[in-house]
Amino acid sequence: MPREIRIFDTPQQLFDSAANEFIALNPGTVALSGGSTPKSLYSLLATKNIPWDKTYFFFGDERHVPPTDPESNYRMASEALLSKAPIPPENIFRVPAENPDADAAARAYEKTVRDFFHLKPGEFPRFDLILLGIGPDGHTASLFPGSNGLKEKDRIFISNPVAKFKTDRLTFTYPVLDNAANIILMATGEEKAPIIQDILENSSSVLPAAQVHPANGRVLWLLDRAAASRLSR
Ligand code: 6PG
Repeated sequence: MPREIRIFDTPQQLFDSAANEFIALNPGTVALSGGSTPKSLYSLLATKNIPWDKTYFFFGDERHVPPTDPESNYRMASEALLSKAPIPPENIFRVPAENPDADAAARAYEKTVRDFFHLKPGEFPRFDLILLGIGPDGHTASLFPGSNGLKEKDRIFISNPVAKFKTDRLTFTYPVLDNAANIILMATGEEKAPIIQDILENSSSVLPAAQVHPANGRVLWLLDRAAASRLSR
């Protein structure tokens, strides 16, 4: 499927577009991205008239911390959206990242996903929408350069040791990302420009975010002018 790239003068215009895309897609199942970029989108979505009772929220990745931790993606999404909109609690599937055993937490979430999607062994969930961000090192979700998770082709959700952070990150694997119906990747700021150029203009890029290729899904890149500033066209 061809990918689409949209460039905006300001982050706010990017988030407005992302919110409109979300509303237009009317996704049933959504995997939220973490970090800081999507927070503004989540706050904006909380003000929209969305059929919350028919929208089911999962997390593309999570830090190995309790949900109250400032690092928690759940905490960020909850503060910006999940506690601000009338979303039924049973529609929110939080990664049990408070479990000191990261592998057990990942396997528990994997079961949650399998059960929700009624998956048979070997099947992968097909999310209506997966939101992704891009790290300055080219990671996406918690698929970091050089991490074992990049090679995972069988599991759905794993604990992925990230050497540079001396911690485990919990993340969906490429087979899940590549099975999505829609992926929206968002990046803002000058810091991301070199990475965005490599991912979008170097066909042999080895960066993790460049390896996301949904066989039967739409990929939409939303960039502000700063993040797109190194692109040649
Ligand atoms: C996370 C995210 C991660 C994020 C990138 C970009 O857990 O951190 O899921 O993949 O999208 O690191 O983060 P920023 O938006 O903060 O630049």
